[in-house]
Amino acid sequence: MENICVLGATGSIGCSTLDVIRRNPERFSVFALTANSQDQKLLEQVREFKPQYAVLTNEKAAARLEQAVKAEGLKTEVLSGSKSQALVAADSAVDAVMAAIVGAAGLLPTLAAVKAGKKVLLANKEALVMAGDVFMQSVRDSGSVLLPIDSEHNAIFQCMPRDYQQGLENVGVRRILLTASGGPFRDTPVEQLQGVTPEQACAHPNWSMGRKISVDSATMMNKGLEVIEACWLFNARPDQVDVVVHPQSIIHSLVDYVDGSMLAQLGNPDMRTPIAHALAWPERIDSGVSPLDLIKLGHMDFQPPSFQRYPCLKLAQDAVSAGGTASAMLNAANEQAVSAFLGGRIGFTHIAQVIDATLQEASFVSASSLDSVLEADVKARSLADRQIVKLA
Ligand SMILES: NC(=O)c1ccc[n+]([C@@H]2O[C@H](COP(=O)([O-])OP(=O)(O)OC[C@H]3O[C@@H](n4cnc5c(N)ncnc54)[C@H](OP(=O)(O)O)[C@@H]3O)[C@@H](O)[C@H]2O)c1
Repeated sequence: MENICVLGATGSIGCSTLDVIRRNPERFSVFALTANSQDQKLLEQVREFKPQYAVLTNEKAAARLEQAVKAEGLKTEVLSGSKSQALVAADSAVDAVMAAIVGAAGLLPTLAAVKAGKKVLLANKEALVMAGDVFMQSVRDSGSVLLPIDSEHNAIFQCMPRDYQQGLENVGVRRILLTASGGPFRDTPVEQLQGVTPEQACAHPNWSMGRKISVDSATMMNKGLEVIEACWLFNARPDQVDVVVHPQSIIHSLVDYVDGSMLAQLGNPDMRTPIAHALAWPERIDSGVSPLDLIKLGHMDFQPPSFQRYPCLKLAQDAVSAGGTASAMLNAANEQAVSAFLGGRIGFTHIAQVIDATLQEASFVSASSLDSVLEADVKARSLADRQIVKLA
């Protein structure tokens, strides 16, 4: 029986994780659940999974949850504040942590789990994008097992040779190929993109996800963040990671070997597959995902990504090549811009403009300490906010 802590339990990945756990009660027990402010949804999860701890960062929401938990006679202890997430993730009783908080807010609790040597199932790609150097050094120091949840990185992990950390060129890998669906605006005329609404941007054709990652998929910043994530996870140089648009989202990514072999992982687009893979690794368990029907699928298509349509992809590729705190600043500017777009303050194409202008104004330093990363994050948010005010 493994004790699981789910950070970001009320989100899309959190709920899919709990569904896989629900299907495998003989293997997993829930030790802690955390969220930001959705106390009602967390209460339902507490009723079902009876964790030892439930954490809400929002103090008022935590107080409401505590009252409800007591009124129902449940034994779960309710904690509040962001530090409590790190405490439960690093608790000695925890075996594995699902890191599924969205955005930079996930960095410190995820890092706490890594430093405590836990098995970490990483959905929160922003943590690695911001602080890859510090994060991977902590993985090495603590002996934490890091398993990717992003469907692309989970696919690559499944197709990689075992010793990939020695450098791709030393293990016969030519390059990693990340697939991208192209999002909801793959065929929208570029001149119409400025007028698209948050609801249209969040209506992903293949995946059901939280709002921030849905917008990132529409701009393809999500793929840009994944390029950076792949470099850290697989010890790859930026020029060893390519992107191909594959509208059906059936091939989740590929590894291209020097002998001409290309290994791919396929499956229906449902995050429960990579979640189940990582939860049970190196074994396999039921995820609830229906088997892929190749005959029904019929065909698969591939196209190159267009930087004119997806300027955010280019911005991310440039940031990872620049190194240092450039990726942390890219991530922070993107979070501010996406939040402004979702709040109706700027248009869709302004997102890339805000990030571009922020990075042009910023200066980058080494990202080998957490302090330098956090300082860069604050600086980039303030630069981005100035750009947003100008455009609003
Ligand atoms: N969804 C997918 O299919 C998918 C696929 C690959 C990777 N990912 C990655 O997985 C992560 C989660 O994505 P998602 O789509 O599941 O997001 P989501 O549905 O928006 O859920 C986010 C979760 O994080 C919590 N949260 C938000 N802000 C927080 C804060 N400041 N402090 C503590 N907790 C906070 C939310 O709590 P409340 O509900 O209380 O707000 C919720 O539990 C992201 O990094 C994303 O890039 C997602």
